[in-house]
Amino acid sequence: MKQAYSIPPYKIKMIEPIHLIDRKARERSLESAGYNPFKLKSNDVFIDLLTDSGTGAMSHFQWAALMQGDESYAGSSSFYRLEEVVKDITGYQYIMPAHQGRGAEQVVIPALIDHPGMIFISNTHFDTTRAHVEIAGGVALDSAIKESCDTEHYHPFKGNFDLDVLRSIIEKYGKSMIAGIIMTVTNNSVGGQPVSMENLHSVKKIADEYGIRCIIDGARYAENSYFVKLREPAYANKSVREIAKELFSLGDIFLMSAKKDGLVNIGGIIAIRSDFDLFRKCQTRIVPMEGFPTYGGLAGRDMEALAVGLEEALSEDYLAYRLDEIRYLGDRLLSAGVPIQYPTGGHAVFVDCGKMCPHIPYDQFPAQAVTNELYLEGGVRAVEIGSLLLGRDPSTGINRKADLELMRLTIPRRTYTFAHLDYVAECLIAVYKRRNSIKGVKFTYESPILRHFTSTFETVE
Ligand SMILES: Cc1ncc(COP(=O)(O)O)c(C=O)c1O
Repeated sequence: MKQAYSIPPYKIKMIEPIHLIDRKARERSLESAGYNPFKLKSNDVFIDLLTDSGTGAMSHFQWAALMQGDESYAGSSSFYRLEEVVKDITGYQYIMPAHQGRGAEQVVIPALIDHPGMIFISNTHFDTTRAHVEIAGGVALDSAIKESCDTEHYHPFKGNFDLDVLRSIIEKYGKSMIAGIIMTVTNNSVGGQPVSMENLHSVKKIADEYGIRCIIDGARYAENSYFVKLREPAYANKSVREIAKELFSLGDIFLMSAKKDGLVNIGGIIAIRSDFDLFRKCQTRIVPMEGFPTYGGLAGRDMEALAVGLEEALSEDYLAYRLDEIRYLGDRLLSAGVPIQYPTGGHAVFVDCGKMCPHIPYDQFPAQAVTNELYLEGGVRAVEIGSLLLGRDPSTGINRKADLELMRLTIPRRTYTFAHLDYVAECLIAVYKRRNSIKGVKFTYESPILRHFTSTFETVE
């Protein structure tokens, strides 16, 4: 029988109890967190949709694999098992683990900047990627298609590069100023939106024309590959593994936060296609930053779980259900009139808080205000992806205005049921109904880098 939404291709074998603290306790908890949900204690959260990063459930195969962990400092068998899987999936030659995505970034990104002011162009840089570019003295420029900012209308690949913008940046600054093109798949910052294979081929063609390297920021490469299968007719009959192989054929370097499509709680990957000099450079950098090149901050058991998780994340039954979880929550919200990025992307529902609360100015962070209200309403933790996250312009110090003020309801992998998602929808619909009374927030402390993580706020009266 054809179902409206896929059925989970697994059953629950182990549970972690959760409970809802009462409204007064939630008020106290949010106040002591400085009105920043990042600073809440997770025990005070009922449904935690802060992130899909490292929050998923491992399979019994992964738990069993942990026992094979070889904890040798150098050259462990766990590393070689992981290396074999990554080589097989990507076709790349040089593999190093890292403790997570930003660990991979801190090793590789500075190694690609030959002189200050060099530019990376991405469809959209993820926040830690942008931070590492800027910390290393580079400049991060985005070139996503304008449809990515139109949350209302359907476009199958809102994560795409705008090829004219990409080319015009290269022409304006000259090839020698471009450190690399970063293909972020899926494009997290505009709503976990996929990038089409056709678009990626065109980006690669432009890169080749100018002799610029391509870096795949592939935290969610499997989800992106499944979207390609669903939405790009030429790929309907290809397996996700084949699609992923083609995707990797377009890159020179692959950086991965394995806490997403690696289906593990910690881990990252650096993979380099064939550039031996770059590999040497990164090998030198990884030792003081992440650890010896065959463990990169991970225990042997972490690498074992990752080797299994990478394979499981390519399962098409799993991916069908994964994307349907997001679609289900999105459909529930849309039917109540809540504005969301449509269609839903790969790992989260993104609520358009700029549209929901147009009375709150961008520098009073409408999505942060809605996020706080959602927690107070029902103990649901989400996260702001808007002007607060974007930060200040490093040269002028002015608050940058994001194109979209989004609240991300991020769904951990293999963790919550549709009943949990129904509850989230009901809480958010209640907040939506009183949207006109929601007030903005202002800083009581502003952290200088990646400020959304640790800053504190108060309500603007
Ligand atoms: C696209 C993308 N790149 C990089 C990262 C950074 O990864 P990590 O959180 O593991 O450091 C993330 C994390 O969410 C991401 O979504």
